Amino acid sequence: MNRPDDRSIRTDTRTAAARISVRRATVADAEGFAAMLGHPDVFPWLLQMPYANPELWRIRLAENTAPGKQDVMLVAVTDDNELVGGCGLHPAGASPRKRHVMALGMQVQPAWQGQGVGTQLLQAVCDYADNWLGLLRLELEVYADNHKAQALYRRLGFVEEGRHRCDALRDGVYVDSLSMARLNPSPLRGFPRD
Ligand SMILES: CC(C)(COP(=O)(O)OP(=O)(O)OC[C@H]1O[C@@H](n2cnc3c(N)ncnc32)[C@H](O)[C@@H]1OP(=O)(O)O)[C@@H](O)C(=O)NCCC(=O)NCCS
Repeated sequence: MNRPDDRSIRTDTRTAAARISVRRATVADAEGFAAMLGHPDVFPWLLQMPYANPELWRIRLAENTAPGKQDVMLVAVTDDNELVGGCGLHPAGASPRKRHVMALGMQVQPAWQGQGVGTQLLQAVCDYADNWLGLLRLELEVYADNHKAQALYRRLGFVEEGRHRCDALRDGVYVDSLSMARLNPSPLRGFPRD
């Protein structure tokens, strides 16, 4: 049975995305990334290792956000700049023939999950990829049992392309992952001539 308190909590959380904005990550976000990616409900679902720390994230963010780097790292933050989510695009390969492809990874702080933050971040990254980088293909890998992430990706146009058996070690168990990808739905147009 719903108590009034339950309803007010749900109402509060469902509107969370409205208080969130998306901006580019900076080295100053290292503490936030270490806290989010070191969380036991987050890192097992990625390819991150336990014991994340701010120093390693400072180095990684400095590398990935340096001028001229192709990597794109966007974060979702609250009004008071608390980091609640991150989404990155990384080159899919060194060959220039793969310039139209980037690989995507994302995560949301557990306390902020299920409130639309992931959707808002992924929409921002897809818009960046489609309309500002002119990418044709976004690709990612997701564990076969990560139904929540798969639901989000499908909703934003990603489709499953294949299964990698025993792809990664997660807490002592080899787990399968799925390849998913999304092609740019809005082919780039020329400047109107008339
Ligand atoms: C996957 C992740 C980024 C989603 O972020 P989020 O902020 O919770 O996403 P949203 O709230 O925008 O949307 C989640 C959707 O999943 C749905 N969902 C929740 N639990 C689910 C489940 N067990 N099965 C299927 N769908 C589920 C929700 O209903 C919601 O869809 P809706 O808005 O249509 O109702 C977040 O859960 C996360 O960081 N997980 C840990 C790291 C991770 O898995 N990263 C992805 C690696 S590939």
